[in-house]
Amino acid sequence: MIDDLEQNDQHKRTRQPTETARPATVAAVLCPFVAGPRNGGDTRDSDARLEEAVGLARAIDLDVRLAQVAPLRRITPATLVGKGVVERIKAAVEEQGIGLVVVDDKLTPVQQRNLEKAWQAKVIDRTGLILEIFGARARTHEGRLQVELAALDYQRGRLVRSWTHLERQRGGFGFLGGPGESQIEIDRRLIGERIVRIKRDLEGVRKTRAVNRAGRKKARLPTVALVGYTNAGKSTLFNRLSGAGVMAKDLLFATLDPTMRSIKLPNGKGCVISDTVGFVSDLPTHLVAAFRATLEEVIEADLIVHVRDIAHPDSEQQRADVEQVLRDLGAFDEGAGRPLIEALNKIDALPADVRGILENRAATGADRARQYPVSALTGEGVEQLLEAIGAFLSHAGEAREVSVPLSDGATIAWLYRHGEVRSRRDEGDVAWLTVALDDAAAAQFERRLAR
Ligand code: GTP
Repeated sequence: MIDDLEQNDQHKRTRQPTETARPATVAAVLCPFVAGPRNGGDTRDSDARLEEAVGLARAIDLDVRLAQVAPLRRITPATLVGKGVVERIKAAVEEQGIGLVVVDDKLTPVQQRNLEKAWQAKVIDRTGLILEIFGARARTHEGRLQVELAALDYQRGRLVRSWTHLERQRGGFGFLGGPGESQIEIDRRLIGERIVRIKRDLEGVRKTRAVNRAGRKKARLPTVALVGYTNAGKSTLFNRLSGAGVMAKDLLFATLDPTMRSIKLPNGKGCVISDTVGFVSDLPTHLVAAFRATLEEVIEADLIVHVRDIAHPDSEQQRADVEQVLRDLGAFDEGAGRPLIEALNKIDALPADVRGILENRAATGADRARQYPVSALTGEGVEQLLEAIGAFLSHAGEAREVSVPLSDGATIAWLYRHGEVRSRRDEGDVAWLTVALDDAAAAQFERRLAR
């Protein structure tokens, strides 16, 4: 995506920071890692992080020759990583003919330039890598527009800030003969114009989607959105649930744009299932905003099914990351909000004893109610998941507020068991619950109150 733009605008070729004979598909992945709390605490296992970064790099067909964790004791402002790491990577880059180094962290434009200069290789950070992946995976018109918008935004920031800094530092020259002020101004204007055009196009696409959604609403088909961390198995589960031929590969981000299918549930009712883009940790906020329209289906869904890779070592951390993104989107809020259930995927990959414990806990609702162990690969548990989806949807939209004395724990427990509790607030001796009940449960509840 970014390269396309640079090739289209010939004059930008002069701005290439580093021209190297080494191919940019031969890559190294460097994962700076601070153990302990940082930016709210980085508790992720460093090897798993590195593995994810390598997976992301491979997702755009990079030939990863070197993958290293770089422990950081402190941040070096000019290069993020310390001098020793810079030297070590420099030697490896030369020795192995590496043309691109992926630094799995946020780099300032200045850090990026300094590292490119030190290593004589192209350097991209995590945001750049995610943008490349989004660019390679976007399938629909809307998806492509959104990615381009995010990429232009990212590029515009880099253009300006790196220039000002370099001009100051190097007395009028950027790396390898950078552009003068007028060139930067032209670049900025061109990018600005493109951004305006894309926003206009996106508006048009959104209107069309809103019309389609309104059509579905009229037809009263409830919608179910599958969300989850990248590679959790959403597309595979989506295929299982819908029998549709959505691309599912061992590629991260095989799915970008929501893909929708209507299916029939075991209770005979219909619903629309949508598959969505995979989430990653540290998804830059401006990317979240740019992808908001893609995730509109999630925001408006009647039920969210969070697909989790339960066999992944960072499964819990991934869950927290996904829930955070959903919260940012306003699609998830523990108290109120719409129902969310979890599909604990890949149970086939668990050792039998771990799996047994998990299935037990899910059956008794020990940890969190609403967890359904499944294997999208073998189909185990999928029928139960479909039944649960049906049950949740039949509760949808019939919420009422009821008050129960806090001393009546049995009734409160009954409501949690038979209904879909959307929110709860305790005031004095009374619990106020907003709860959706299906017809049978509502009748039972009336009888219970009458007693
Ligand atoms: P993104 O498009 O990156 O968001 O990924 P996704 O969540 O759609 O994952 P996808 O369905 O592409 O699956 C990722 C990988 O996990 C593939 O190699 C699948 O074969 C594998 N996978 C999916 N479900 C299961 C499962 O139940 N068990 C096992 N063992 N592997 C699975």
